[in-house]
Amino acid sequence: MNKQAIRQSFDRAAASYDSVAGLQRQVCVLLDAVLPAPTLTRMILDAGCGTGYGQRLLAARWPAARLVAADFAHAMLKNTAGERICADIETLPLPAATFDLYWSSLSIQWCDTQRAIAEAARVLAPGGVLAVSSLGTGTLSELHAAFAGVDPHRHVLEFSPDQALANACAAAGLQNVTLATRSIRRYHPDLKALLRTLKSLGANQVGANRRPGLLGRRVWQAVEARYETLRVDAGLPATYEVILCTANK
Ligand SMILES: C[S@@+](CC[C@H](N)C(=O)[O-])C[C@H]1O[C@@H](n2cnc3c(N)ncnc32)[C@H](O)[C@@H]1O
Repeated sequence: MNKQAIRQSFDRAAASYDSVAGLQRQVCVLLDAVLPAPTLTRMILDAGCGTGYGQRLLAARWPAARLVAADFAHAMLKNTAGERICADIETLPLPAATFDLYWSSLSIQWCDTQRAIAEAARVLAPGGVLAVSSLGTGTLSELHAAFAGVDPHRHVLEFSPDQALANACAAAGLQNVTLATRSIRRYHPDLKALLRTLKSLGANQVGANRRPGLLGRRVWQAVEARYETLRVDAGLPATYEVILCTANK
């Protein structure tokens, strides 16, 4: 993945992010619901905090805790409150064994899973809790199918299977790993609106082999026509396979 391009997309999207982040807020609530409360919660890290929705949720649940928010997109951090660091969550400039809770919602799918989880395990204090949400292989399957075969380029981010997250936790020495998945379907008036939403979220980078320019008109029409076959009363569906993972150090 081109990390710099990903960071720039999120930087550019910081101002529009909250207006389109309904799914992201919903996932924070789901992650909060499966999170086993650490016995002691003095230090919390929100890794890949975005505009800070998760941070606010955690602050409400643990008002006395010290909460640190980390994101590599500087413009995202501007909207957060309290202690924040502009940093890559694969290499955190934070001391080992510090946090009672490591929280990361919908950020790890943009990272090297093994590296990000190893780093989470490093900064967690013994007995600390990890709570991570990510997106699995079924995510945006409709978009993937609509673009399939139109050209040799990638148009949708490649998501990892949920087991990759569990394996990374085990490899990092974490224990009591639990995985749950939830399929969430959202609807958009048309394909352009879906793509606009992804762009406004900053989620429009697709990793390696990205198409350099715009699609030709005929190709665009073919993609649109394929997606239109899925239309229902609520609009065009977009499926998100949400992975909720918790573990202990
Ligand atoms: C979809 S947003 C989720 C934000 C927030 N957790 C939420 O639930 O609204 C993904 C965030 O992860 C951040 N991110 C992605 N890769 C990162 C990395 N390697 N290091 C730090 N932040 C990263 C992006 O800048 C963006 O703010």
